[in-house]
Amino acid sequence: MTKTTITITQPDDWHLHLRDGEALNSVAPFTARQFARAIIMPNLNPPVTTVVRAVEYLDQILAAVDGSDFEPLMTLYLTDNTPASEVIAARKSCFIKGLKLYPAGATTNSDAGVTDIRNCDAALEEMQKSGLPLLIHGETTDPQVDVFDREKVFIDKTLQPLTQRFPELKIVFEHITTREAADFVLQSGDNVAATITPQHLLFNRNALFQNGLQPHNYCLPVLKRDIHQHALLEVIRSGNNKFFLGTDSAPHAKNKKEGACGCAGIFSAHAAIEIYATIFEQQDALDKLEAFASFNGPDFYGLPRNNKTITLNKEDWTIPDEYPLGDETLVPFLAGQTVCWKLSETI
Ligand code: DOR
Ligand code: ZN
Repeated sequence: MTKTTITITQPDDWHLHLRDGEALNSVAPFTARQFARAIIMPNLNPPVTTVVRAVEYLDQILAAVDGSDFEPLMTLYLTDNTPASEVIAARKSCFIKGLKLYPAGATTNSDAGVTDIRNCDAALEEMQKSGLPLLIHGETTDPQVDVFDREKVFIDKTLQPLTQRFPELKIVFEHITTREAADFVLQSGDNVAATITPQHLLFNRNALFQNGLQPHNYCLPVLKRDIHQHALLEVIRSGNNKFFLGTDSAPHAKNKKEGACGCAGIFSAHAAIEIYATIFEQQDALDKLEAFASFNGPDFYGLPRNNKTITLNKEDWTIPDEYPLGDETLVPFLAGQTVCWKLSETI
């Protein structure tokens, strides 16, 4: 019998961009309405490189979700110069849950990122010792490498050697997009896990070019061939506990997405859990949704699973064409399309 309602432990989003200023106030409530916690990406301008900056940012986020009990899980932005002492301070802070590696130039606000991972050895040594995870944007920045091969080349040239030099380091391979990435995680030890976004499950690279250029389906890592999409779908159907929910919801104003040089990033926080539920149902894997969304992430990070539950009802609703983003607007993922699960308003 097909289900018309599902109740699961409240989920968390293990990869989220909230921005700052007015944009933060516009987008944060969408996440707080469904998720108990979220890993907050530090790629602001300037980036969140220190514990002191992370406290300020945490306060801004808490103000933006005032009235909810949403808990932001903060991260620091790793640079060539992050000292071991900052890792120790992060560990002691208790609210910082990881450091994010952006290869310099790989994506939005990554200019201050890492130019050579060997420059980070002191920080990585300390992270390995203290169990603080490294969250990785896994793409090579070599401009000679085809954009569709950048994740695979990163695995071979950077990630594989890194895991050999730091065999105990906890790693979250963020927003994986390829069969090679899924295989790498499956073949690694329990200290290596991955997040998967809704767009990389729902779409392949055809979605970038269907009926003309589709800037709102453009993110980094870019959508790949269907064989890679199918590998990710196979992973979620398998229920393997190394993979968990991370939306990579990344708001950009409509004019920045649709301009001559469109920004990378897809905003999905408005309907994230509903979209994942729709995908899992399409895969005949609704029974695997709760572990993916609510168990595997906290288990990997060594955090308690949430106590509350959420309920989703089988109900068609249409995603709006736009939402406000400060005094600009935002085009959400799947704008104008119908989703068949709806979050019940009460938690
Ligand atoms: O598409 C993306 N957008 N990928 C990233 O890695 C960063 C993000 C953003 O911050 O806009
Ligand atoms: Zn991201």
